[in-house]
Amino acid sequence: MAQSSNTVWHEQTVSKEQRREKNGHHSFTVWLTGLSGSGKSTIANLLSHELFNRETQVYVLDGDNIRQGLNGDLGFSEEDRVENIRRIGEVSKLFVDSGSVVVTAFISPFRDDRKQVRELLQEKEFIEVYVKCPLEECENRDPKGLYKKARSGQIKNFTGLDSPYEEPDQPEYVLETDKKSPEECTAQLLRYLEDSGYIQKKI
Ligand code: ADX
Repeated sequence: MAQSSNTVWHEQTVSKEQRREKNGHHSFTVWLTGLSGSGKSTIANLLSHELFNRETQVYVLDGDNIRQGLNGDLGFSEEDRVENIRRIGEVSKLFVDSGSVVVTAFISPFRDDRKQVRELLQEKEFIEVYVKCPLEECENRDPKGLYKKARSGQIKNFTGLDSPYEEPDQPEYVLETDKKSPEECTAQLLRYLEDSGYIQKKI
């Protein structure tokens, strides 16, 4: 891992465990990956709303928003996408360390990059969720009109068209958004998080 020279890591006096204890819940990253238009942002927001209503410290990191600020210097070349995900991995780690649940919505098309984030975090801190939807359906939805632009050559390196998307091999969970509504998918994911002990069951 790259590291600035002449820096020393300072352990914080308030630990991750203490922050978790204060918040009354585990902290982890729900990493949503999938094609543009597959429903990542919608599900991320529905999930975060549900968790927020359950008194959880939760925050959404979304590709479209992060690329207007923190990652505004990055484009869509392979190199820039790798850097995009590397930074989001590091930010997610900080959120987890601060005791929060973080829900990320990035295409994150490369298997290796997602693996790097998994390795950056600890056991039970990274939940890879494949938001699965056939390309034809995403293109049909085309909520931002970007597939149309990509097809007409106005956008280059568009994921699923002239830039690859590598499906997860062993994600913790798969949501099929062409078969179920965003609300149903979110309910499914919540049930998974409860059944796996990440969050408490609603009483
Ligand atoms: S990632 O590949 O680096 O993970 P990220 O999730 O941050 O991508 O951003 C994807 C969003 O950027 C898409 O939802 C879409 O709105 C927009 N976008 C603009 N150009 C492209 C492109 N060439 N490929 C994919 N998405 C693009």
